[in-house]
Amino acid sequence: MGFTMGLNLLLLLAMVATNIFSLYHLSSTIQSKPPAPPPVPDHLIHQLSTIRATINHLTSLQPTKKPPSSAAAAAPSDLLVYTHIGPIASSCKDNPILLHQYMNYTPFSLCPNDSPIAENLILRGCHPLPRRRCFSRTAAAAPPSLPTDPFSPLPEKTPFLLTHYSCKTLPCFAGLKSDMGFDMKIEKSRFLTYKSDLDLPISQLLEIAKSAKSIIRVALDIGGGTGTFAAQMKLQNVTVVTTTMNLGAPYNEAVAIRGLLPLHAPLQQRLPVFDGVLDLVRCGHAVNRWIPVTSMEFLFFDVDRVLRGGGYFLIDHFFSKKLDLEKVFTPLIGKLGYKKVKWAVANKSDSSGVKNGEDLCPSVKNILLLDSEGKRIAVKYYSDDWPTNSAKEAFEKAVFTKTQKINARTEAEISMFENNIIVYKFVQDLHFYVTGGEDENELILATVLQGFFDAVGILLRGNIDKKEALENLDLILLCIDEIADGG
Ligand SMILES: *[C@@H]1O[C@H](CO)[C@@H](O)[C@H](O)[C@H]1NC(C)=O
Ligand SMILES: *[C@@H]1O[C@H](CO)[C@@H](O)[C@H](O)[C@H]1NC(C)=O
Repeated sequence: MGFTMGLNLLLLLAMVATNIFSLYHLSSTIQSKPPAPPPVPDHLIHQLSTIRATINHLTSLQPTKKPPSSAAAAAPSDLLVYTHIGPIASSCKDNPILLHQYMNYTPFSLCPNDSPIAENLILRGCHPLPRRRCFSRTAAAAPPSLPTDPFSPLPEKTPFLLTHYSCKTLPCFAGLKSDMGFDMKIEKSRFLTYKSDLDLPISQLLEIAKSAKSIIRVALDIGGGTGTFAAQMKLQNVTVVTTTMNLGAPYNEAVAIRGLLPLHAPLQQRLPVFDGVLDLVRCGHAVNRWIPVTSMEFLFFDVDRVLRGGGYFLIDHFFSKKLDLEKVFTPLIGKLGYKKVKWAVANKSDSSGVKNGEDLCPSVKNILLLDSEGKRIAVKYYSDDWPTNSAKEAFEKAVFTKTQKINARTEAEISMFENNIIVYKFVQDLHFYVTGGEDENELILATVLQGFFDAVGILLRGNIDKKEALENLDLILLCIDEIADGG
């Protein structure tokens, strides 16, 4: 689309860790020089680069076999780059145990109750999944009627089986945490109001298009949760499809029950849309600085591929450190050569907009050390999300059950669980977990985990097992206290 590229338009609403440095409309030049950023302590920069490397490693799958050198010489260089960040089909082979579990079923009968295995494979880049010849599990009878308004409260009775979650109905998820997208009272007003420069109400978005004599009819929302952007656009007669993964909650089911179209596609997948057909692509919360830069570059260029000339690219509430925004992400976005329609930058706050500039100070909710049966060895809670001991135990049990099939022995793994991010690593009969909120920086949580793990290793003089851990429990508890001082 080289020749139409200049016609594409970009809307960026970003947050940075420190100062608001500029806000400019309808212009592609910075009007005022930003104030110098406060110095970032060296140890934090060091920590960040270590974990960035860890995450890069985590998100890139290692090809098991090197291709023969003659083939390597013939392979286009971008194919080689791309196979490192999102291996092409080969990543199914890289996860043989999961793949075998997934394909181990009785043909022509009922499929196993194993949707988390499919989710895990897809998140590891095994996509598209192989097809199967079994009958998927659905509720015996669909309810006779479902809401046509995408903002009606989610019905209790649905055609879906929610067996893999602690909540067994969709409305139950609304009660877990208000900002998960299941509470329609909250969703109803999203994308409509202007609370800060970072907001672009849909009316304003449509107005921008109208004044440019452009029209928005078909769009894609990448990582769109329960589909609220699509729902609001539907009320404006715009068709939006939403890509969404079931990270800890039935997001795909929620989108569908609202009468919207969910695409079960991971971020690393080539967008399942033909070239130059969309009027608008939006990236929300899922697309932020935790994605390795090269992956993000491929993502952005894929967005360019599917946008028509004059289409809009909305990068909504992107967050990064101020320095990274200047040095990495602004130049990256600049490569697209789009005209900037709206570009607003503000201080990082938490999702409700109160915590200021605390981006570098992670809030760890708990640190857990469990044994190979999921029993507690040492735990420490820093948040009151689990007020009673039985709530804590239930959480530990659920986390253990959710992660025990995952191989976290060679590398740390990351999962989402009830809107928390959990990073974990298993060694011998010890299971190490660190939990943070969903807005938390995965990189930092991974460092806390590594720090915890290293410290326990040192305390146990390399004999990392349950017996040794129980003998040195007092030291381990002391160590947990020091790692995350008050979270
Ligand atoms: C952004 O944060 C800095 C301190 O980190 C503060 O001085 C500044 O006033 C903040 N700006 C806004 C608009 O909140
Ligand atoms: C959407 O389309 C319907 C039916 O054509 C029409 O009645 C309604 O006014 C349209 N809404 C908007 C916001 O354009």
